[in-house]
Amino acid sequence: MKTYNIACIPGDGIGQEVIPAGQTVLAALAAKSTEFRFDFHSFDWGGDYYRRHGVMMPADGLDALRPMDAILFGSAGDPDIPDHITLWGLRLKICQGFDQYANVRPTRILPGIDAPLKRCTPAQLDWVIVRENSEGEYAGVGGRAHQGHPIEVATDVSMMTRVGVQRIMRYAFKLAQSRPRKLLTVVTKSNAQRHAMVMWDEIAKEISAEFPDVHWDKELVDACTARMVNRPASLDTVVATNLHADILSDLAAALAGSLGIAPTGNIDPERRYPSMFEPIHGSAFDIMGQGLANPIGTFWSCVMLLEHIGLTAPAKQLMQAIEAVTADPQLHTRDLGGPAGTAQVTEAVCQQLHNK
Ligand code: IPM
Ligand code: MG
Repeated sequence: MKTYNIACIPGDGIGQEVIPAGQTVLAALAAKSTEFRFDFHSFDWGGDYYRRHGVMMPADGLDALRPMDAILFGSAGDPDIPDHITLWGLRLKICQGFDQYANVRPTRILPGIDAPLKRCTPAQLDWVIVRENSEGEYAGVGGRAHQGHPIEVATDVSMMTRVGVQRIMRYAFKLAQSRPRKLLTVVTKSNAQRHAMVMWDEIAKEISAEFPDVHWDKELVDACTARMVNRPASLDTVVATNLHADILSDLAAALAGSLGIAPTGNIDPERRYPSMFEPIHGSAFDIMGQGLANPIGTFWSCVMLLEHIGLTAPAKQLMQAIEAVTADPQLHTRDLGGPAGTAQVTEAVCQQLHNK
């Protein structure tokens, strides 16, 4: 029996509700198997930890995570702590520390979900957004001078490296190649940003030569938002910079029905470090502690986690269980207009797994 060590970092807000729900579902999967089991290792890092210790996670936190097979992360964000501190002190520290340079965000309209694009059937919206996750607009390069004076200046420099762009392009082309349509859209803004984005385009073209069977096109990020709404079926795999993909992936999640469903993986494709999986919805303080949070984003993230560690068949089982549950509107949480709570959805998914 193989044991997988999974780090669980609920973090803040509804992360503390959805991550235990994710563990329950993973444990239910393992209970049916004689081949694998999970050891969960919980870390209480986040806003409360910051109030006690003055940091979001301990200085040697990455060392504790390093031996894990994967990380399940809830969210970081606290109404009383500036957002850039919670983000840079925990989530980005792990993403950048473990060089999880590929952020992968699948979007589909799951059965039973009422999505806003009435002209589009669920089969026509099946996207994966690949987000550059290590540099670009999130490089953290910049500064402030003359603080508080009229001449104050502040910069955030978007920094792109040839290696950084090459590796994310290669990852995206490879992913596109593995999907039935072999279709990749490279999102850019090289009309206005005439240095880094021009290099981004050039490198896309260079890497495309390694993947002659992948059809690819280029789209400006602003035009891409309109295309997602007007011609969703014309997209399949999409690669974009850190900030562009951040914005496009929220639009994608909303077009698929709710931010509460959307999953993500922060992946180190070279497997030097553990990868980290999380729902993209954030801490949602307005509904925390009430049992209202939609756990589906976490469950789908668990599917990605299972695929990443090589448990392909259990990943498929879990996805089928999720889809059986979303198909029933009585099992929808409030964000989807339904009456169910976190616990009820979790139980329903476990029940589906049990029946299989
Ligand atoms: C996301 C989130 C984060 C980001 C926030 C919490 C800083 O919006 O994962 O998309 O912008 O990276
Ligand atoms: Mg975002």
